This record gives sequence, structure tokens and C-alpha cells, in this order.
Amino acid sequence: LGQNVIHKPSVSSTQILAHQQAQEDAPHGTVIVADEQTKGRGRLNRTWHSQKGDGIWMSIILRPTFEPHRSPQITLLAATVLAEVFKRHCGIKPQIKWPNDLLTDGKKLAGILTELQAEQDQITYIVLGMGINVNHDRDVFPEDIQNQATSIKQETGESWAIGALIQDILQTFEKRYEEFIEEGFSKVKLRWEAFGYRLGEIVDIKTHQRSWSARILGIEHDGALKVCDEDGQVDILYSAEIQWGR
Ligand code: BTN
Repeated sequence: LGQNVIHKPSVSSTQILAHQQAQEDAPHGTVIVADEQTKGRGRLNRTWHSQKGDGIWMSIILRPTFEPHRSPQITLLAATVLAEVFKRHCGIKPQIKWPNDLLTDGKKLAGILTELQAEQDQITYIVLGMGINVNHDRDVFPEDIQNQATSIKQETGESWAIGALIQDILQTFEKRYEEFIEEGFSKVKLRWEAFGYRLGEIVDIKTHQRSWSARILGIEHDGALKVCDEDGQVDILYSAEIQWGR
């Protein structure tokens, strides 16, 4: 992993470039990094603010042989790797809001976007995108997200060398990815839960079908979110737009 790093000053989105490279047979572990994205994208078709120089905008091509239904576990794996690196490397303790947001004090520090290409129940490739706010001052974020976004610099009061941070992330990811392939999801689950946002607390949850209040119990052996409502009804969620009202 990281043997083949493609570095671009400016791209529309490292995700788009990674898909192109993957379709042209780029090997497992190919990494695309850009200083700037003009059309950075987030989950649920949102825009991802990614201006020049301040952040890490990176996509990794993975070619695992496990079944496609396990691909969401890669998102949780990546979130735990980022949490681990932010803690060890920068001395901050982020929290992971299921499935993939890294927060400090409820503000977003980094996000992960996993895109799967599969055929006949086999993964062709995965593009794992990571967007990390590193050296952003508060006022470089658009005004409407200044209260929702933060950066490693804002949390630590110092600027960080982007290259060294990328290297640490790639090395840590490689180690954890191999562990995951060999041993399965159990260690990822433990690590994820050590950083879980509002674990054990009651939050407002909203899916496409309904809204309710439930206590977050943790994650399942496959990475799904387990919650329990006020009547003791347990639900296992595979995708939910969670509202954190209280
Ligand atoms: C989210 O939280 O919604 C996910 C954000 C993912 C952003 C990263 S930045 C690198 C890669 N390229 C993109 O266009 N998006 C991902």
C-alpha cells in the first residue's frame, strides 16, 4: 500500500481520478492525493469543501477478495485508523459518529467516503476516500459550516506537516487492513467502540421510514449500529441519517 502514490496539485475529485485509475487496472493500494479539489464530494451527494494546501484529500484503491456486503466495514476500519493516528500523532482524541464522521467537540474534523464497484457478488474494487481538515483556520471554511467544522490546527493550536501525516495514515492503515483481512472485524469493532460518539447515550434517530429516540448500544459484529428504544425494542441499523437532537 502506498507504493504507487499519484500526487496532483489540483483535481476535480480524487474519487473520480481513483475510479478512472482503477478502471485502467491500477493495482491494490494505489493512492491518489491532491492539494486541492474543485469538486470534492461527500456522502449523500454533499459538497466537500477542499481548498488548496490546508487539508488531506486522498483516495485509496483497494481490491479485496471478500464479499461486497462487507465493504461498509472498510469505512469503519478507516475511521478507526484516522482516530488512532489523530490521537497518537497529534494528541487529540476524536470521536467517531457512526458510521464515518470524525468529530471533536461535535465538530467535523474528517469524513470518509467508500465507493464500491462489484460484479456478480465479487468486488472489482473499492475507492476509499478520506477528507481531513488539517491546517484550516476557522475563517477559511464557508460561513455556514464554521460552527460545524474544525481542523487539527484549531484543536491543537499548531500547524501540521501534511506529508508526515499522510505517511502515518498509510502505514497505520496498511497494518490495520492486514489485521482485518487475517482476523476479521472483531478488533476493528473494539477500536471503533473506544472512539464511539455518544455511546450509551439516548439520541434522536431518523431514517427514511421513521424518527425515534434510542440509546446507542454499540456496533454489531458486521459494523451495523445497534440501538435500543425506550420500550426495550432493539434495532440494527445499516444506514441512517442520525439526528443528534439530545
Ligand atoms: C463525508 O463526510 O461526507 C465524506 C467526505 C469525503 C471527502 C473525501 S476528500 C478525498 C475524497 N475525494 C472526494 O471528492 N471526496 C473524498
